[in-house]
Amino acid sequence: MAQESPDTSHFGFREVPLGDKQGMVDDVFRSVSHRYDLMNDVMSAGVHRAWKAAMIAKLNPPRTEAPFRLLDLAGGTGDIAFRAAEAAGSAFAAVVCDINAHMLEVGRERAAAKHLDDRVSFVEGNAEQLSFADKSFDACTIAFGIRNVPRIDAALSEIHRVLKPGGRFLCLEFSHVDTPGLDTLYELYSFNIIPELGRMVTGDAESYRYLVESIRQFPRPSAFAEMMHRAGLRRATWDVMSGGIVALHSGWRL
Ligand SMILES: C[S@@+](CC[C@H](N)C(=O)[O-])C[C@H]1O[C@@H](n2cnc3c(N)ncnc32)[C@H](O)[C@@H]1O
Repeated sequence: MAQESPDTSHFGFREVPLGDKQGMVDDVFRSVSHRYDLMNDVMSAGVHRAWKAAMIAKLNPPRTEAPFRLLDLAGGTGDIAFRAAEAAGSAFAAVVCDINAHMLEVGRERAAAKHLDDRVSFVEGNAEQLSFADKSFDACTIAFGIRNVPRIDAALSEIHRVLKPGGRFLCLEFSHVDTPGLDTLYELYSFNIIPELGRMVTGDAESYRYLVESIRQFPRPSAFAEMMHRAGLRRATWDVMSGGIVALHSGWRL
C-alpha cells in the first residue's frame, strides 16, 4: 500500500488532499449507478455472485423467527442486503447505508421489484460518522465499499460502536493476487480490459480506471486485520478467494 500523510489520501494512483477524496468517489458512483449492477456481472463474468454468496454463507443469518438486524454499509444498490434477506427468517431486517443518493435510488427500485422493501430500508449516510445508536446491529457487512472510504479507521470505529456485543463484522474487498502467472493476467485484464468494458457498458472508462487503481492501494489482508483490531474488532480472520482477487474478513465485537 502506498504511503499517505495524515492529510492526504489516494484516489486511485493519485495522492489527493484527504478532504477531496469523498467528492471524487461520489462522482464515480453517481456516474455509474444506472449500470452498476450490469457492469459487476460483465467485468467479473458473474463471479461476484459467488463471492457475495460466500459472504452470506459466513453471515449465516437466522432462518428462525429470531429478530436479526443487519447494517449493510456502503451497500449501494442493495445486493448484499437482498441476498441476506432471502437467506434469513421473517424477523430479519436490513438497513442499507450509503453516501450516494443515486446508488440508493437504484437500490430502492430493486427492493420494490423484489418485494423486499418491507425488510430492507435505505439510509443516506457516511460510514465515517454513522447516525445509528450504539450497539444497535447484530451484524455489519461491507462489500467492495471500504476501500472507497477516505478515513477507513474512522469507519471501522463506527462499525464497532454500532455493533451489539457478540455482533459480527464481515468485509468483502478486492485484495492482492500473488500467484505467478495469474498476477500478470489479472494485471493485464484490470488495466486494459476493465476500463474499456466500463466505457462500453456505462460510458465511463475513467471511473473504472479509478476502481482498478484503488484496489492496488488497499492494504493486504494481514494489514487490514490489524486495522480491525485497532478499532476494537476481535478474532479477525480472513479467507482469500479466486487466487487472492478478493478477501473476506471477519471480526467480532466482544
Ligand atoms: C463498489 S460499490 C459497492 C456496493 C455494494 N456493496 C455491492 O457490493 O455491490 C461502493 C459503494 O461505497 C459507497 N461509499 C463510498 N464512500 C462511502 C462512505 N464514506 N460512506 C458510505 N458509503 C460510501 C459508494 O457510494 C458505493 O455505493
